Amino acid sequence: MGCFGSSKKSSKRSDKNRKDTAKIRKTLGGTSDQTQPCSDSTKVSPYRDVDKEGVVVKEEDQLALDVKGLNLDDQPTGKKAQTFTFEELKVATGNFRSDCFLGEGGFGKVFKGTLEKLDQVVAIKQLDRNGAQGIREFAVEVLTLSLADHPNLVKLIGFCAEGDQRLLVYEYMPQGSLEDHLHDLPYGKKPLDWSTRMKIAAGAARGLEYLHDRMKPPVIYRDLKCSNILLGEDYQPKLSDFGLAKVGPSGDNTHVSTRVMGTYGYCAPDYAMTGQLTFKSDIYSFGVVLLELITGRKAIDSTKERKDQNLVGWARPLFKDRRNFPKMVDPLLQGQYPVRGLYQALAIAAMCVQEQPNMRPVVSDVVLALNFLASSKYDPNSPSSSSRRRNASLHRDRDDEEKRPDLLKETESEVSS
Ligand SMILES: Nc1ncnc2c1ncn2[C@@H]1O[C@H](COP(=O)(O)OP(=O)(O)OP(=O)(O)O)[C@@H](O)[C@H]1O
Ligand SMILES: [Mg+2]
Repeated sequence: MGCFGSSKKSSKRSDKNRKDTAKIRKTLGGTSDQTQPCSDSTKVSPYRDVDKEGVVVKEEDQLALDVKGLNLDDQPTGKKAQTFTFEELKVATGNFRSDCFLGEGGFGKVFKGTLEKLDQVVAIKQLDRNGAQGIREFAVEVLTLSLADHPNLVKLIGFCAEGDQRLLVYEYMPQGSLEDHLHDLPYGKKPLDWSTRMKIAAGAARGLEYLHDRMKPPVIYRDLKCSNILLGEDYQPKLSDFGLAKVGPSGDNTHVSTRVMGTYGYCAPDYAMTGQLTFKSDIYSFGVVLLELITGRKAIDSTKERKDQNLVGWARPLFKDRRNFPKMVDPLLQGQYPVRGLYQALAIAAMCVQEQPNMRPVVSDVVLALNFLASSKYDPNSPSSSSRRRNASLHRDRDDEEKRPDLLKETESEVSS
């Protein structure tokens, strides 16, 4: 990892770290403490910046300030985000040819391209010029990803800010997003098996742990959802899209006051109601993703009966009795899951989506529990691990019992009580 890590480095390095911390606080800290309801249109439009005299700063000027202020030429890791000309990115994508098109989100279109000078395949997000992603979000994305370095966070290779064009250049993730593998699978596409789902959950949790516990200053992601979990060749997950990231509360503060942004269905109810953002808001969103992985259902599904449209609303009553658990699992798994693993995974999800933020676990406990589940061997062809053995959850060998992370012990009693 290591943007800020090494204690061996000189005091110059610590100064640099302090400067980085100040810089990231300034850009990710934001200024608004307005509160507005969580919108269905996913992202609330960005506000325009106002300078000390109350004059609206032109977005162009603000971009120049923010991006220049990033000092990207001087990254502590030596892995600076590069700047590209629009022409270079045009050439890389064959002038944004339709057969290079990878997908489209709320902020613009994503294209696959090849950068000749780096001889590298990349994904290029061209922000919609009239769209919702503003200057601040662009700068926050560039800054966060330039300072971060973790195998479960997508790498930003560079960006282009030329005229009114804003483009972000990422490492290419060959398996697309988790959403592409969970929902509305095209005919013939193989659904993810249980072990892969647990590996994805554990990897995504490690990415979140890096943001919460290892970045300095710590960062709240605010946009955790299946479409922002991208998958590598071997389904290694990486979190992407950091435009909404915020520096976490410092000192004795328990929360950051901010306008409510995020995606409907993933947004923690406490944050949606009060605008008070905490690390536990991300834990709630993580719980929703974990539920999607287990159940194969969408966070919001308007094709379902009204009472079942919200995944957490559907799951909460079922959490009360573990006899419901086998009914909750994704039918596409065709019964191929370990019963005990299912119980444990659902128990973790139930803890994460609790109404009260202080009842939700911290990310490091989630990581321990999911690493344990992801490393538990499950062979669907072995009769001993078959889901047909419904009483498997009662069988525990002593070694296994001792190794189990505390959260798993806690959640099991929690959910069954
Ligand atoms: N680095 C990447 N490598 C490969 N495919 C990518 C990459 N980044 C994005 N994509 C593809 O482009 C799609 C659109 O991504 P984008 O982040 O613009 O939108 P989204 O996540 O679906 O929605 P939102 O705008 O709310 O974040 C993704 O679902 C994914 O399939
Ligand atoms: Mg996205």
